[in-house]
Amino acid sequence: MSVTILAIESSCDDTSASIIRDGYMLSNLIANQDVHRLYGGVVPELASRAHQANIIPVVDQAIIQAGISQDEIDAVAFTRGPGLLGSLLVGASFAKGYALAQSIPLIEVNHLKAHVMSHWIKVPGKEMPLPELPFLCLLVSGGHTQLLIVKDDFSIQELGSTIDDAAGEAFDKCAKVMGLTYPGGPLIDSYASKGNKDAFKFTRPRIADLNYSFSGLKTNFLYFLRDRIKEDKDFIAKNIEDLSASLQQTIIDILLDKLVKAANKSGINQIGIAGGVAANSGLRSRLLEEAKHRDWEVFLPEFRFTTDNAAMIGITAYYKYLNKEFTGQGTSPLARYSIT
Ligand code: KG4
Ligand code: ZN
Repeated sequence: MSVTILAIESSCDDTSASIIRDGYMLSNLIANQDVHRLYGGVVPELASRAHQANIIPVVDQAIIQAGISQDEIDAVAFTRGPGLLGSLLVGASFAKGYALAQSIPLIEVNHLKAHVMSHWIKVPGKEMPLPELPFLCLLVSGGHTQLLIVKDDFSIQELGSTIDDAAGEAFDKCAKVMGLTYPGGPLIDSYASKGNKDAFKFTRPRIADLNYSFSGLKTNFLYFLRDRIKEDKDFIAKNIEDLSASLQQTIIDILLDKLVKAANKSGINQIGIAGGVAANSGLRSRLLEEAKHRDWEVFLPEFRFTTDNAAMIGITAYYKYLNKEFTGQGTSPLARYSIT
């Protein structure tokens, strides 16, 4: 039996649609929203309007690029949350209407779980090993930093999470302090590649257990710059590469410290990262480096599956479809929605 899923992702500022057939990604379209660039962050009202404008053309293109016809779609999946309520509503309403019109099942997906499940997306013509279960995943997105175990039945156990800012927020907020546009993570990544990671020292938190904290680093970074700018108003411009490299290194050290502890504590050696910050080139190479000294098998999602995309919603929905986990029309989006 072949299963074809149309998946929609609209939790934040990207409108995405994907076709997944039997775990293989046939298409994955993403319409980015440039309207937010001017504001230094995502403006929720503008995001929902852009989703409304984008959703039909993006779904159309996803179906065309997959080379299938609408009547081959067995179920429609959407992101229920967490995310911006107005943005989620656009995707949820579209998916509900589509399920009704086509008389096919509806499947709701948790966006955070979908980031983790991106490791199971298969790409036609590119056979890659899939992680074995249990799998230890560091989820690092714009709003979340969590250490998670994917158990044998694909259920999730949380080992630790951030008590304040997420790693993505640390990148974005520090980038903003340096005058970089939103989202700052990718910009810091590219400046960091040309800088000296040992140029400056920033604080590392002392947090119990397997939890994270990034708000102290952000404050430390802010005060550090404020003091240096007093001495030289061009300090940032002159040092942007070294600042980026040192900051990125600090964030990676903080992330890896707890990941190593989680691996040791759980005894799991199938290790991966997921979410937008998993696109960070420093974090990716550091993980591969760590794997050399340990018996880790490391899984790095393709770049296009790290930031928000509908293929990850589709793969999660595919496994739910196999378990017949369908959703009624009474469902509604959730701005806050725990992964466990
Ligand atoms: O997972 P995601 O696309 O959206 C959420 O669900 O939050 O993550 C977005 C986050 C932003 O904070 C962005 O700055 C960060 O991922 N990000 C990066 C990189 N690419 C995206 N951070 C560091 N280095 C990157 N290359
Ligand atoms: Zn995300």
